[in-house]
Amino acid sequence: MISIIGSGKVGSAIAFLMATTSLDDIVLVNRSKEKALGTALDISNSVSVNSPVSVVGTDDYSKIKNSDVVIISASAGNSGTSRMDLLEQNVILIKDIAKKIKQHSPDSKVLIVTNPLDIITYVFQKEVSYPKEKVIGIAGNLDSSRFRYILAKELNTNVDKITNALVLGEHGDTMVPIFSHARYNDKPVLDFLSTTQVQQITDNVRNYWKEIRKYQVFSVFGIAKNTTDVARAILKDEKLSISASVLVDGQYGLSDLCLGVPIKINKN
Ligand code: 2OP
Repeated sequence: MISIIGSGKVGSAIAFLMATTSLDDIVLVNRSKEKALGTALDISNSVSVNSPVSVVGTDDYSKIKNSDVVIISASAGNSGTSRMDLLEQNVILIKDIAKKIKQHSPDSKVLIVTNPLDIITYVFQKEVSYPKEKVIGIAGNLDSSRFRYILAKELNTNVDKITNALVLGEHGDTMVPIFSHARYNDKPVLDFLSTTQVQQITDNVRNYWKEIRKYQVFSVFGIAKNTTDVARAILKDEKLSISASVLVDGQYGLSDLCLGVPIKINKN
């Protein structure tokens, strides 16, 4: 079973994708019971005729009991020009959600989507003191998909020709696209790019979110797909190598913070 805390645009897109791919039963939790119920009723109609998956909406955290995976997409509002805009409100929110998850479903793996991602993942982790493998901030695979997309455009090719394009570090203005590993047609991308292009692509990866936000208020589908991929890998014990925000304790000479590093997902 999967529980999704927050049934706004992102939470409901994640639920929709999970329901239509028949991943597992879904519990949608929202502060507004009406919103959770309405979204669940709507998404329930997207479940295939031969799928046993159920989608329920609630404001009652006791319903998340025994979830294999809990996804947190709740937010106190919508960020303006910076993911840091809602820092204070979302820290308060996440502490409250953390207590409830620990109380009602302490064995769940927890995937966090709420911004500012690395800080919220850290605050959640500190609040629950789970083993670091159990709490994963989802953004690195989204940023990596943006890096892949921008590289493909720059090289005038399709995204499937770009491999090993990883983005590490903060899910924010200092994120780091790793050019040295990225490949185009199985050759180093750096063979095809000038220093100016590398700088421009780095800026474009970092500002991709702001580019989306020029045209629409939310970024929804990329994060929904990338979150669903991680949940699926956990539930189905598929091996998935991505970058994601986790607590580092000594790796890379860093400790006691969360940021995007390469990790391997499986059921554990
Ligand atoms: C994104 O990068 C909003 O952080 C989210 O799309």
